[in-house]
Amino acid sequence: MLVFAKIKSLQQKIKSLKKGNSIGFVPTMGALHEGHLSLIKQAKKENNIVVVSIFVNPTQFDKKEDLINYPKTIDYDLSLLKSIFCDIVFTPTAEEIYADNIQSQLFDFDGLEYQMEGKFRDGHFNGVGTIVKRLFEIVKPHKAYFGEKDYQQLQIIRKMVEKHLIPVRVIGCDIFREEDGLAMSSRNSRLTKKHRTVVPFIYKTIKYAKKKFGTKNALEVTNWVENEFKHQPLLKLEYFEIADEETLLPVKNKDPKQKSRAFIAVFADKIRLIDNISL
Ligand code: PAJ
Repeated sequence: MLVFAKIKSLQQKIKSLKKGNSIGFVPTMGALHEGHLSLIKQAKKENNIVVVSIFVNPTQFDKKEDLINYPKTIDYDLSLLKSIFCDIVFTPTAEEIYADNIQSQLFDFDGLEYQMEGKFRDGHFNGVGTIVKRLFEIVKPHKAYFGEKDYQQLQIIRKMVEKHLIPVRVIGCDIFREEDGLAMSSRNSRLTKKHRTVVPFIYKTIKYAKKKFGTKNALEVTNWVENEFKHQPLLKLEYFEIADEETLLPVKNKDPKQKSRAFIAVFADKIRLIDNISL
């Protein structure tokens, strides 16, 4: 496994390998877990060469505190990547990516950016768009892998690729969960023991909401979810929303012609967790 911190040396290596090989790319912010590994394993199956980036991107954090507290486990990450035969790891510094201008580019994602996460995380998707576009320009992969865990992010990247004519195939991958249903996340490691025992309630509730959406409309299901969380003093519901999978606009009733998904964001003390389920 080769590890590069500099763009130039990474690009030289990729260039020398590119002939006849397909390059699969998995961007991450490190603190790797099985969810990340599932993307990398899928990329390994579908490409000859897999590149993983580890970069905690400052421009996508709306709260400084969240950026500072973001878990960093680079040695462990590298050993995990080696164990699953990752080919190339890119670990740039913020300087290498942004030089002296740590700022987001402004994007128009046709409104996707104003829904759900966009209402609560100011500038987040401009930050994600900026870094992913930059990484695509550096790595120039054939295929790039993103988790449905961050479903809105996945749709926003698809939109960016389409609007900016970036020659890459974006592949969405299933959500990888703990045995008790909790969606894996780098942030889970920051949960207290007490909170860790209650957070499986999030997936349990959206699974039940999925069942209810067969007979009840979105407003009724949303009211039910909000009420369920009122009985959970350790968790604070930020939003629950049923939305169209493509436009991410709110859906009112179940319609067999429309693909919809339930989205949720919850605080367990200061740790913000998100999840979603196809309905
Ligand atoms: P990060 O949170 O590290 O996630 C990297 C990738 O792993 C994302 O595509 C995310 O959706 C996926 N992922 C995380 N947990 C997952 C799970 N439980 N199951 C399946 N996939 C999962 O998302 C980011 O980093 C950043 O925003 C990034 C795209 C790297 C840009 O900075």
